[in-house]
Amino acid sequence: MSPTFIFSILLFQLLFASQPCHRILTSAAGGKWQLLQKSIGVSAMHMQLLRNDRVIMFDRTDFGPSNLSLPNRRCLNNDCTAHSVEYNVLTNKFRALTVQSDVWCSSGAIMQDGNLVQTGGFRLGERRVRLMNPCNGNCDWQEFPNGLAAPRWYATNHILPDGRQIIVGGRRQFNYEFYPKNVAANTFNLPFLSQTNDRGVENNLYPFVFLNVDGNLFIFANNRAILLDYVNNRVVKTYPAIPGGDPRSYPSTGSAVLLPLKNLKAAAIQAEVLVCGGAPKGSYLQSLRNRFVAALNTCARIKITDPNPQWVMETMPMARVMSDMIMLPNGHVLLINGAGSGTAGWEQGRNPVLAPVLYRPDNKIGSRFQTQNPTTIPRMYHSTATLLRDGRVLVGGSNPHAFYNFTGVLFPTELSLEAFSPDYLDASSNNLRPSIVAPKSMSTIGYRKKITIQVRITGKVVNNMVSVNLVQPCFTTHSFSMNQRLLALGNDKVTALGNSLYNIDVTTPGSGNLTPRGYYLLFVVHQDIPSQGIWVRLR
Ligand SMILES: *[C@@H]1O[C@H](CO)[C@@H](O)[C@H](O)[C@H]1NC(C)=O
Ligand SMILES: *[C@@H]1O[C@H](CO)[C@@H](O)[C@H](O)[C@H]1NC(C)=O
Repeated sequence: MSPTFIFSILLFQLLFASQPCHRILTSAAGGKWQLLQKSIGVSAMHMQLLRNDRVIMFDRTDFGPSNLSLPNRRCLNNDCTAHSVEYNVLTNKFRALTVQSDVWCSSGAIMQDGNLVQTGGFRLGERRVRLMNPCNGNCDWQEFPNGLAAPRWYATNHILPDGRQIIVGGRRQFNYEFYPKNVAANTFNLPFLSQTNDRGVENNLYPFVFLNVDGNLFIFANNRAILLDYVNNRVVKTYPAIPGGDPRSYPSTGSAVLLPLKNLKAAAIQAEVLVCGGAPKGSYLQSLRNRFVAALNTCARIKITDPNPQWVMETMPMARVMSDMIMLPNGHVLLINGAGSGTAGWEQGRNPVLAPVLYRPDNKIGSRFQTQNPTTIPRMYHSTATLLRDGRVLVGGSNPHAFYNFTGVLFPTELSLEAFSPDYLDASSNNLRPSIVAPKSMSTIGYRKKITIQVRITGKVVNNMVSVNLVQPCFTTHSFSMNQRLLALGNDKVTALGNSLYNIDVTTPGSGNLTPRGYYLLFVVHQDIPSQGIWVRLR
């Protein structure tokens, strides 16, 4: 054996010794991939991070037994396997949960008390409300039949400043409702959803819904958007269609984010939305005939608070449909998962896009996108991603089949979980990285309050490049992350205390329109390098 070879083996062992439970697949600038679990037994079609660093995941109950048995033998229609799991991020372990009705293509949001309220689904599940209370023991789903006023399949939920959720649309439902409901007749017509419903192909399901800073809801479906005063059921603004007019909503699935809200002390706070990818008009019907049209390679960005809002187009490094868009703690957007052609739907996507792309919203147009290191696992229809407290992005799911199909198909049903570590996690940035010394969590912070976060930063600190950022944990399914929201609070003052310790004074947001009450991840970001988050509760 040559000395270099022996050295390589030693290096290899060293690398693996430092990561006992994770296999490193790729490394270098441009991010790293880790395979966390070969199989969690179910396919992570829906994902929600809870305040105890557990991620709730589920697929469907109507497509055969999964690869995870249910310890309590609570069978549903002779299927005694689990279709939901709780994944513990800290221990990299998972346990089976029991759903008692079909959660397929449902939606959800975390209420202000930190409980997950998940709504709708298929058939028996279509009017269910399900509750998951974060715990350290053996808690499980609780289900409430007829919790919804209308059947909701492919709807979008959003948490409201008053603590309720709004549930918008769903298949053949051109209306919205509230949970919990406060009036008996709890559905409100929304003609925008029938106007954006292309005949033969809906192209308006899982609408992209964001709470604007003025308290109204920005609702995007197909290729255009409105601003809705949901209290008075009145459209207060109609936005132009995205140039080109191609559809961006399910099944021509693009994705969207509300870009970081910042300068929150300004008299007029601005908000911007970024919509990326999708499929050219007609692609859905073409893919049913085995013709897989190249996806859209454009993003469209709009200032939704502008008096005369216009879409500004940008070109991605590659075409993308069914991609997730995840807000990173530093306000950059990660496009991850998806395909290069076809659409959402059974067997209707091709050309997996294995490389994530980073989007830096504050760079000059033309220099915002950067392609990252690829994974080896295609994540097609029914794949998901979500940000974790440690700054990694959890990735799972992918099942373009009507059953669990592991062989004889182009893209086998994926039961695996991976994590993507953006390169801000590289050790080379450790001298810039804040680590939060105190507090370790905060159970009550109010609006417009001065708080102090103590951090350690070993390298040279640039005071005006320190920001306290709040990130709301989102419900992710079908390439859209509901309630995804980042508030960049900046800092009021940075005080050096000696020994690499600093106090960061910061003022919390001014209202529930900016930041609905509830649990947030608080990160301190220095020169784009984030700390690990701490959980805080705004109320
Ligand atoms: C799931 O179970 C099937 C049938 O037992 C088996 O063939 C397959 O390899 C399993 N897949 C995974 C990813 O564990
Ligand atoms: C997927 O699995 C189901 C049930 O096992 C089977 O009937 C079906 O033919 C499979 N589909 C494909 C595309 O192989």
